Amino acid sequence: MRSPLAVLVGPPGAGKSSVAEILAARTGTTARDTDQDIVRLTGRSIGQIFAEQGEPGFRCLEHEVVSAAVREHSGVLALGGGAVVHPGTREVLRGLPVVFLDTGLSDAEQRLRGNDSRPLLREDFSRRWLTLMAERRPLYLSVARVVVSTQGRTPQQVASAVHSEL
Ligand code: S3P
Repeated sequence: MRSPLAVLVGPPGAGKSSVAEILAARTGTTARDTDQDIVRLTGRSIGQIFAEQGEPGFRCLEHEVVSAAVREHSGVLALGGGAVVHPGTREVLRGLPVVFLDTGLSDAEQRLRGNDSRPLLREDFSRRWLTLMAERRPLYLSVARVVVSTQGRTPQQVASAVHSEL
């Protein structure tokens, strides 16, 4: 059984995947993204899974994929923004070097502008993002060993901040 160097959590638009790639390159490891694992495993897009199985079905699948990834991957892991909603997934993260990328609405909006691949954020982006973040902030904090603000920082700067905390 392996253990990841870092597990990045945070809301959509926090830059988790970009930071994971940069951090992996700097640490001589690889990045793994659990949303990509889900798409590869099922042969379906995240939007299709939500449409066919609803959010509960997606969270079950995500739980399986995150559980496997934390056992198998020794590099940097980026989780989907809602992974922490599943109590079993929070349990799987216990004791791991989990980093919460704490982001504000304006940064998230800038990163995700024109991208409609997130079923929970297709309409009324600002209000829904703020609602998700308010519900999930305590969950991110409950699993995080380290909190890194992304506010006004480039993914490279965020990767440096995370690196210095590992
Ligand atoms: C979700 C975030 C997405 C993806 C799915 C659900 C969420 O990942 O897992 O659309 O519930 O916030 P990102 O955080 O990478 O956008």
